[in-house]
Amino acid sequence: MSTLAQEASRRRTFAIISHPDAGKTTLTEKLLLFAGAIQIAGSVKSRKAERHAASDWMEIEKQRGISVASSVMQMEYRDCVINLLDTPGHQDFSEDTYRVLTAVDAALMVIDAANGVEPQTIRLLQVCRARNTPIITFINKLDREVQEPLNLLSEIEDHLGMEAIPFAWPVGMGRAFGGVFNLNADHLHVFTSGKEHRSDNDEKLPGLDNPETERRFGENFTKTRDEIHLIKEAVSDFDHDAFLAGKQTPVFFGSALNNFGVQEVLDALVDMAPPPGPRIALQRTVEPDEPKFSGVVFKVQANMDPAHRDRVAFVRVSSGHFQRGMRLKVARTNKEIRPNNVVSFLSQRRDLLEEAYAGDIIGIPNHGVLQLGDVLTEGESLQFTGLPFFAPELFQAVEVKDPLRTKQLRIGLTQLGEEGAIQVFRPHLTSGVLLLGAVGQLQFEVVAHRLRTEYNVDARLSPSRYNLARWVTATDEKAMKKFLETNAANIAYDVVDAIAFLASSPAQLRVAQELNPGIEFHAMREHGGQVFATM
Ligand code: G4P
Repeated sequence: MSTLAQEASRRRTFAIISHPDAGKTTLTEKLLLFAGAIQIAGSVKSRKAERHAASDWMEIEKQRGISVASSVMQMEYRDCVINLLDTPGHQDFSEDTYRVLTAVDAALMVIDAANGVEPQTIRLLQVCRARNTPIITFINKLDREVQEPLNLLSEIEDHLGMEAIPFAWPVGMGRAFGGVFNLNADHLHVFTSGKEHRSDNDEKLPGLDNPETERRFGENFTKTRDEIHLIKEAVSDFDHDAFLAGKQTPVFFGSALNNFGVQEVLDALVDMAPPPGPRIALQRTVEPDEPKFSGVVFKVQANMDPAHRDRVAFVRVSSGHFQRGMRLKVARTNKEIRPNNVVSFLSQRRDLLEEAYAGDIIGIPNHGVLQLGDVLTEGESLQFTGLPFFAPELFQAVEVKDPLRTKQLRIGLTQLGEEGAIQVFRPHLTSGVLLLGAVGQLQFEVVAHRLRTEYNVDARLSPSRYNLARWVTATDEKAMKKFLETNAANIAYDVVDAIAFLASSPAQLRVAQELNPGIEFHAMREHGGQVFATM
């Protein structure tokens, strides 16, 4: 195997998804701890706090106790390089979250065992399912009084539309939580509480018919044994191909706070999650072990370091070998860049990065040269598909309080639009007013805050009568012209001048669709504006 193939095959790139408070931050930290990437529990949380303090616009995040910005962490475990991408899990999340999911090869879903599958997780899962992303499930907080594991399993199956295959089964819960019975190893991993302990020396009791286990855990263990017999009858065997195709999810139980079950999840990531695969570009399919470098910008974040007012483009390496200082071409503009001060995100430290392989994420500071969806190559013109813009579900009209600041407003909105923080629409009829489109309410607040602090623009946001958008295309030019004429009041153009139909209700959209069979309505647009999809 070539070095490139070897390096690619030891990469595991995944996103961690959950509903707020399910324990994502805790589990992230424990994964880093077990992989040896950090030494002390508490570092991730305290870094999160530092980041809050350092970054002005994240004040909103601080106030709400949520994480608006996603981040990237890299760790080494069992000779694998694991890239972990955090996704903000709050309710008012942005499109950013969706796009992070386009940069990973697998997802780790954290579920609070008391609450089961919650709304936010369901939305994220829809995106994973649309892309057939393999999902590993971790059911957390077994040290609390939680739902019956069998109920949780069927809830996951109902919501995920994929089979849930338990790899372990809990004994008791809350104060009576005894541990988890590992179905493959055929032993009970006895629960030990404590935030500092590593599971290396935890007690393991072999077999389902073990008198000592029965004596110690009594009825809780007999119940577990009955349930395991039931599961063995009713649940299919784990099929790795079905997992890779997003048809089965392996399920683990534990308590992240107590470092319990974390090792099993890390091992599952190494053993089950796929290495980087081929990526599809409009021109051809790009293999991870190709000699030439290629990568795609899936996220742009401004002002990560307020002292420099920079923007960092997050690039997922698709192929080849990245070396600091190499010459790269931006496929959209044909411009050449020579990233010297690339940043990596190990344990959220901005270390200088020397090299990267397929699956890795690199951060390239820049001043607007790199936009969302941009492809970097060693010269070839490539455009990757799959980086989505979602039709906004919320709209607000935006104006400046001081008309002399109109130009700054436009500049600010263009840059924030390029970053993907918000979508900006220019109505066909009233071109003086701009419309902002978002998939979460918080996006508006972040944008208003950032316009004020970064562009010195006091923006006035007001409700708009629209709350639905679809990009429209037609093969018949005449049909499109007629559609634009008759619906002028509902037509707007986005940043790349793609045409959108804005509606105030689903009923209005339905009517427009019925009246115009020659027009196609799309809920999703890909970067560049050429590719549309109906989700
Ligand atoms: P999030 O990133 O998904 O939003 O969740 P986070 O890890 O911040 O965890 C949310 C709360 O749940 C935290 O409590 C955390 O300590 C707790 N938690 C996480 N894992 C477990 C577990 O296995 N068992 C129990 N009992 N609790 C768990 P908090 O009080 O909100 O925060 P903190 O005071 O601990 O910082």
